[in-house]
Order: sequence, then C-alpha cells, then structure tokens
Amino acid sequence: MGSTMVVTGGTGTRGRLVVPLVVEAGWQVRVLSRHPKDLGDGVEHVAADLMQGDGIDEALEGVDVVLHLAGGPKGDDIGTQNLVRAAERAGVKHLVHISVTAVDQLPLTYFKSKLGAEQAVRESSVPWTVLRVAQVHDFAWNTVRAMAKLPVLPVPGGVRFQPVDTRDVAARLAELALGEPSGLVPDLVGPKVYSLGELARDYLRATGKHRLSMPVRVPGQVGKVYRAGGNLTLSGASTGTRTWEAFVADHEGHTGR
Ligand SMILES: NC(=O)c1ccc[n+]([C@@H]2O[C@H](COP(=O)([O-])OP(=O)(O)OC[C@H]3O[C@@H](n4cnc5c(N)ncnc54)[C@H](OP(=O)(O)O)[C@@H]3O)[C@@H](O)[C@H]2O)c1
Repeated sequence: MGSTMVVTGGTGTRGRLVVPLVVEAGWQVRVLSRHPKDLGDGVEHVAADLMQGDGIDEALEGVDVVLHLAGGPKGDDIGTQNLVRAAERAGVKHLVHISVTAVDQLPLTYFKSKLGAEQAVRESSVPWTVLRVAQVHDFAWNTVRAMAKLPVLPVPGGVRFQPVDTRDVAARLAELALGEPSGLVPDLVGPKVYSLGELARDYLRATGKHRLSMPVRVPGQVGKVYRAGGNLTLSGASTGTRTWEAFVADHEGHTGR
C-alpha cells in the first residue's frame, strides 16, 4: 500500500499493541515519542516532544494518517494542540485520537486536559475520528492495588467502572486508523459494570491478600457524577470481548502487579 502512519505514543502500553496491527495491514509506521527506542519491531522511531513542540513537523512530513496515543497525567490539551497544528500544516488526511469515557462529565485535572485535547482534534481542519475508551483492565488493577496498600481498604460507595481489555482497545484503534474519518464514534467499554468494591475484592482474592474494608464517600461534584453513573456508557457503546475475570485469572498469585 505504501501509505505512512505516525503513531504518537507508539512505545506506550496501548501503542505497543496497536503498532504491529497496522504494520501487518501493510502500512509504513513511524512511531513518535520523546525517547525513541528500537523495539525490534521493524518500524521507524522518531523523537518529538508534543508538549514542547520540538520535532513534530519533521515527524509528520509525508504522512497520511496520525494515530494519537501519546499522553500523560497532565498537559494532553497542550500536546494535542501542538500536534493538530502540525497535522494541519502537513496536510494529514486523517487524525485518530484516543479519549476517555465521561471526558465531559468529571471535573478532574486529567479529564479537563483530555477534554481540551479532544476539542483540539474536533475543531481541527484535519478529518478526524475520536474514540472514547473506558478504564482499561490494567488501570483498574493498578487503582485497586494502590487502594490495597493501605492497612484498611477504603471503598468509595457508588463508584462503578466498565473495565475494558487493552487488546480490545488496540484492535478497535487499528480498525479506526485503517478506516475513513468517522467523527465521534461509539464509546468502547468492557463487557460488564463492576463496583470498585467488587474490583478490589477480585484483586485481593487473586493476590492472596486480606484487608478490612471501610466505606467512604467521594465528596463534591465528582462524587455526584460517579454515584449517578455519569461516568458509565450504558447504551450505544461498542463492547470489548475479554472480561475482567479473564484478566484477573492471568494475574492470579501475582503479589506485585
Ligand atoms: N489508562 C486508561 O485506562 C486509558 C483509558 C482511555 C484512554 N487512555 C489514553 O490512552 C493514551 C495512551 O495511554 P497509555 O496508557 O498507553 O500511556 P503510556 O503507557 O503512559 O504511554 C505514553 C506514551 O506517550 C509518549 N509520550 C508521553 N508524553 C509525550 C510527549 N510530551 N511527547 C511525545 N510523546 C509523549 C510516551 O513515550 P515517551 O515517554 O518516550 O515520550 C509513551 O509512548 C493516553 O492518552 C491516555 O489518556 C487511557
């Protein structure tokens, strides 16, 4: 085919799973990150810093599609604005962006910056696709692992998640990047809704840990949104196939992760 795709954050947790799928489909892939590493994957790795704006124009030269997966706990709005401007200059034909479910609901720093990032893409003159994704299994696992570090496990009442598997996310992102610009597509969520207490219980069982638990109330607007299920996509979503139970079974007996 000979078309070129830049995958920002192609060395990250999600990016590493998507890159082989688009390579397999016949695309020339260029992975953009601040610290390029040769992963032995046969793709080109280039250095650019989306936050600082360095190296982006060079990385996007002659590129047809940008799959934007780079991100961090803060500053995704700035990084994405820089990327979008460079994509407009380079005449990119399709920009695919990973966002998060409930991005416009939760008044938290991470969500605000993800919303700014999403808006930058949606307001761009580059034809775009945005996929909002629920918490991935490894994020849910790391969340309950952090909670279980305390001697008494705090269980926030009414907080529910729809964890989705990273492999399902990678497959959907590859499908979208290989397709036509589609605007805001249905959210991608996991097959089932779990309370945070259920996720924590599964973590404790799988790792052989024991904790007393204590119900806590999430304060303010954030608590209200969670208790009302405002972070969930209960209709019209596309659903991953791999379950939380299957993910947990793979981690049975792991005390560290
Ligand atoms: N975790 C979840 O549950 C979840 C759910 C929905 C959506 N998402 C979104 O999915 C995206 C990918 O998440 P992930 O967990 O795969 O992230 P990750 O494993 O932390 O990887 C982040 C990637 O972005 C690159 N990067 C970070 N800052 C950069 C910068 N300033 N300039 C260029 N590259 C930069 C990193 O490489 P270098 O460090 O070498 O630069 C790395 O390749 C994020 O936007 C995240 O918000 C996550």
